[in-house]
Amino acid sequence: EQSERDSLFIVSDFAAKHYQQRLTHHEQGSIGQSYLKQRGLSSNTIRKFELGFSLDEWTDLTDSAQKAGYQQKYLEATGLTIVKEDGKKYDRFRGRVMFPIHNGSGRVVGFGARTLKSNDKKSPKYLNSPESDIYHKSNVLYGLFQAKQAIRMQDMCFMVEGYLDVLSLHQGGIENVVASSGTSLTEGQIKLIARYTDNITVLYDGDAAGIKASLRGIDLILELGLNVNVVTFPEGEDPDSYIQKVGDTAFKTYIKEQSLDFISFKTSLFAEEAAGNPVKKAEAIKEVVASIGKIPDAIKRSVFFRSCSIIFDIDEQVLISEYNKMQLQDR
Ligand code: CTP
Ligand code: MN
Ligand code: MN
Ligand code: MN
Ligand code: MN
Repeated sequence: EQSERDSLFIVSDFAAKHYQQRLTHHEQGSIGQSYLKQRGLSSNTIRKFELGFSLDEWTDLTDSAQKAGYQQKYLEATGLTIVKEDGKKYDRFRGRVMFPIHNGSGRVVGFGARTLKSNDKKSPKYLNSPESDIYHKSNVLYGLFQAKQAIRMQDMCFMVEGYLDVLSLHQGGIENVVASSGTSLTEGQIKLIARYTDNITVLYDGDAAGIKASLRGIDLILELGLNVNVVTFPEGEDPDSYIQKVGDTAFKTYIKEQSLDFISFKTSLFAEEAAGNPVKKAEAIKEVVASIGKIPDAIKRSVFFRSCSIIFDIDEQVLISEYNKMQLQDR
């Protein structure tokens, strides 16, 4: 017997195919195609990630699904169709490039949808599917299905923020990449990666606010016993814009040369800010010691206490006793 969840998978799959068909075989689809081309994506990449287009009409998907025999309640449960208070129905996604989101076994569970307008204050840049019985944002990573083999082979996973970052890196030959889709990392997401590797390299957008906001999520990676490296990009660049700008080869060289273990990265970040200010320096040291304290492995911890003591120019024993003090407080 077909379960409720099966029905949601099936209607999501229908929608993904519908949006794909609209992109490739509908006259309006050419707007979507030229947008994607302008973003530097090849038809190969577009096909591989099953990208699509939602027509700029109120009920194109809802009508097509109904005609094909899909039940209204499943369209609503996946958020593809929205019902107004007066009972009128309309499509959630209209006039947008569609990014189907797959679960680990490759089934479509939801969508991200980008507006084609570059600077529209009225509508958000991305619209996403709401949570449903098959889509739990905190337990999905965009691109994982397409990346998992490469993650295992390379024994490393690149973590980026956005859909376009995943696509551009793939196209450039870096296939071990997934996106957190803008939200901060969750334990569930990290555990998904841990099935394939213990090594994560975070490639986040090059703005200070974004980096600060992501520190907490990165601590979580340490806490779960994985190794984390960080690469930052020049202000205003993200992995997508940067690889499109400098090309595949220069990009690969850049991430090799810039890759820094997270503790050294965080230490330098805070040490720089605290330069010449003893009070700030003390706070910075506590902040970094707290991160090192999350690492379950004692040998790794001691390696990081050593490198941190060098960067802060402070006795290693001071760091360790600070750590011991925190341990006592936490009990
Ligand atoms: N995001 C979202 N809703 C928004 C903005 C962002 O869900 N209004 C998510 C998307 O998954 C997006 C990611 O956060 O891919 C990163 O956001 P951002 O860096 O602003 O977008 P980009 O992925 O860089 O998209 P683009 O290059 O098209 O601007
Ligand atoms: Mn799910
Ligand atoms: Mn996940
Ligand atoms: Mn970005
Ligand atoms: Mn971008």
